[in-house]
Amino acid sequence: MAYQTIDVKPIAGALGAEILGVDLSRDLGNQEFDEIHQAFLDHKALCFHEQDLSPEHQVALASRFGQPDIYPFIKALPDVPEVIEILKTERDTVNFGGGWHSDTSYLPQPAMGTFLHALEVPDSGGDTMFANMQLAYETLSATMKGMIDGLVGVNSSAQNYKGGRAKKMKELDGMKDKFIDSSEISIAEHPVVRTHPETGKKGLFVSRAHTTNFKGMTVEESEPLINFLSDYAVRPEFTCRIRWRPGTLVVWDNRCTQHFALNDYNGQRRRMHRVTLRGDRPA
Ligand code: OGA
Ligand code: MN
Repeated sequence: MAYQTIDVKPIAGALGAEILGVDLSRDLGNQEFDEIHQAFLDHKALCFHEQDLSPEHQVALASRFGQPDIYPFIKALPDVPEVIEILKTERDTVNFGGGWHSDTSYLPQPAMGTFLHALEVPDSGGDTMFANMQLAYETLSATMKGMIDGLVGVNSSAQNYKGGRAKKMKELDGMKDKFIDSSEISIAEHPVVRTHPETGKKGLFVSRAHTTNFKGMTVEESEPLINFLSDYAVRPEFTCRIRWRPGTLVVWDNRCTQHFALNDYNGQRRRMHRVTLRGDRPA
């Protein structure tokens, strides 16, 4: 599509684009918003550098795309309940989001999109990778597609954290005080092949991080295929990598991507603000 109000520069073959010429702290005009939204559907992860955005601005921006949601496991900023802080301090060795996943896929209505705004970033390291789940699905063999088309994945909030989410969160020096230990494990069943409600395209919706097994199959039976699909889906040619600067805002579509926060900057500090959007029931 030809864009008139924004400049769209793809950053990889698979997905991801940098958007130039936009100040997100202003109210976006309708055409400008429509073009950004189209770019979001086309490129799946959009990167805007040098954005001076307050938490309130970030929520207002997210509200143009959908309904900002409350994240169940981390206390929000005191005055802005839709914004959580993702912080890795100089003392932390574990990070948040350090495994391939799609946000909150263990909820009945997983997050549709996520807006992450960088406040403090390491001199180098701390990049985030994204992978295109539609490209991954499309490139599977017809026989494999036939095998997985009807499968349902069981997704659990406890899966990523063998030994418990609480134990893992307590290892995060920067975030442990904000952790909400509901001790409730959230489990949701979703199709392994998900149809994007806006583009109609099919994509994989399965990950080692959250999928424990396929419905009607044991963990032992499911694991080899979960592992194959999870690894296949993040082959280098299906990914892009975003290098953050202070002020970078990235918005990604959790319905057709996974992401991975690199943990390669021990001894340095990284601080972000995050807003997620309420999603639909995957189908
Ligand atoms: C997230 C997440 C990635 C990052 O906020 O959902 O996974 O790079 N973070 O911090
Ligand atoms: Mn995440």
